[in-house]
Parts: sequence; structure tokens; C-alpha cells
Amino acid sequence: MIAANKNLQFTKIQELVYELKVAEVMTKNLITVAPDTRMSELRGILRDNRISGTPVVDGDRMVGIVSVEDFITWLIRGGVDCPVGQVMSRKVRTLFADEPLVHAVSKLEEHGYGRLPVLDRSKNTLLGLITKGDIIEGLLQELQIDYHEEEIHRYRASHFFEDMIADKITINFHYHIHGKKIEQGGEVASDLKRSLKRLGIHPDIVRRAAIATYEAEMNVIIYAEEGRVDVNVEPDVILIEVRDRGQGIADVARAVEPGYSTAPDWVRELGFGAGMGLQNIKNCARDFDITSTVGRGTTLKISIPTGTKEKRCA
Ligand SMILES: Nc1ncnc2c1ncn2[C@@H]1O[C@H](COP(=O)(O)OP(=O)(O)OP(=O)(O)O)[C@@H](O)[C@H]1O
Ligand SMILES: [Mg+2]
Repeated sequence: MIAANKNLQFTKIQELVYELKVAEVMTKNLITVAPDTRMSELRGILRDNRISGTPVVDGDRMVGIVSVEDFITWLIRGGVDCPVGQVMSRKVRTLFADEPLVHAVSKLEEHGYGRLPVLDRSKNTLLGLITKGDIIEGLLQELQIDYHEEEIHRYRASHFFEDMIADKITINFHYHIHGKKIEQGGEVASDLKRSLKRLGIHPDIVRRAAIATYEAEMNVIIYAEEGRVDVNVEPDVILIEVRDRGQGIADVARAVEPGYSTAPDWVRELGFGAGMGLQNIKNCARDFDITSTVGRGTTLKISIPTGTKEKRCA
């Protein structure tokens, strides 16, 4: 569901936008105005705080958002002083604090907004605001931390398999995906990622396995009833199988095409539905296979070689 890009490589940044939550990078020190704040005061508030827009809050409820663009439109229309409530945009796109950062990226991109208010999912109250600047700052900070971790990892890699002696060694991980629980989306991918890291597998390989699993997991949650993930880790390859019970896919070849999506509106509202999930999985894998029976379910099988870096995610 990340933007289509032919030269896409699954870099640290892409991993981070899936992993970080909006709450972790949003600005919490909010400057807000009330609906009855005068337009004549607004310019000073925006300028003094060096911001280009601010939520309009009535009590603890956000009722709109007002930006420099709104201010300019107001000026062009004559600039007659009035309450902000009469000028603000009422239809505001928002994000929930527990959504992955990738949703913030796609919503900001898609609608060309400069900022998005962040709400608490259960109480619907305003918690913060997120801008592209916040995202960049958050990513830079995480990259710095990650760089250190990766350095340490390089020296401590456990070379797990090298110590084992057998004709064939396989480590299996099994996970259950509870369908329809979109708020739990990503749990399997993140558990698998942690486990693979502990085996001392190269971070680049772990990243691919985690991204592919995340996309497959979300598809099961959104389009199927329930599913399971079986991962076999062998010395030179990771095999991932995601099998679900659900409606199945009538035209698999079409489903894999970039941009093809049957995601309903409520799913798109949550930032999914770009039709890029299966492509992303394909880009992460060496072998990629989907079989599906309509009315029964879908099975996705992929392999990711561990030792070599000959096939980059591209
Ligand atoms: N497990 C599944 N069961 C049924 N249909 C599926 C399943 N996985 C994918 N599909 C179908 O294939 C389409 C394409 O899936 P893909 O993951 O590429 O994109 P998306 O889920 O629509 O959007 P994105 O993954 O970018 O958020 C889906 O819209 C859906 O119609
Ligand atoms: Mg998908």
C-alpha cells in the first residue's frame, strides 16, 4: 500500500513508516483557536507560532481547521473581520493516534494537505497534529537509533544455523490471524520480525519478510474471515505461507496488478486500498504464488532467500 515506484527498495524508512505509530511523531503541543477567535487575531497567532494552520476547538471537540490558505481566501473576499468559525473548513480529514505512519504519509500525499489532526480512537478527542515535517523528524530520530542497533547486530549476529548439525534444519513459526480485527493488523508481522531478528537473520531479509507478512496479514483481515501464517526458516531461505478462509479471489492475475483494489470506502478511509499490497509482497519475494477458490479462501506462498543479496527488492 506504499506508493508505486519501480525502483522501490525496501529500505529502513519504509520499514519505519509501517512500524511507527502516528502518536509517536505527532506534535502534542497544540496551538488551537476557538470558533469565536476573530480572523483579525488569526494572522498574529499563525505568525507568532510559526505555523501554517491550526485546529479550531470548541471545548474538547474539534470543529474545524483553519489555515493560511483560508486566511488568504478571506482576505481576497474583502477581509471583513468575523469569527474563525465562519471561515474554517469543517470537513476535516483526520487520523487516529494508533494508525501506522504509512497512513499519515498516504493521506497527506493523496489530499495535498499540509497537516492532519490526530484523534484518540475511543474518545474522538484531539490529541495532536501531524505534518510532513513531523514525519521527517520522527524518521530521522528513529534512523539514528536504528543505525546503532544495526551496528551492534552486525557484530553479535548469532549465526544460529552454523552451530547446528543436521541433514535438514527448519524452524517453524505459526501465527493465527483473527479476521476483521483491523486494529490488530500488523501484530503477526511484528511478532515474526522480532523472532527472525533473534535468529540473527540479516536486517534486510527480516525487513522483507515483515513487509510481505504485513501486507498479507492486512489482506486477510480486510478481505477474509480468518487465516494462519506458517513460516519455515531454513539456512538459506524463508518460506512464508498465508492461508485464509474467506471469499477468495475470482481473478488472481488481476488482483496482483498494481492499483487494482476492491477495498470498500471505510477501508480506504483508514489508508488502505491503494492496490499495492500484493505487488509489494511480490517485490519482496523470489518465488510468489497465489491460489484461490472463490467462497473458500486464498493461499499465498512466497520465498525469501536469506544468504544472498543478489535479488534486491525492486
Ligand atoms: N486474502 C484475500 N482474500 C480475498 N481477496 C483478496 C485477498 N487479498 C487480496 N484480495 C483482493 O485483491 C485486491 C488487491 O490486493 P492488494 O493487497 O494488492 O491491494 P489492496 O489490499 O486493495 O490495497 P493495499 O494493499 O494497497 O492497501 C484486493 O483489493 C482484494 O480484492
Ligand atoms: Mg492489501
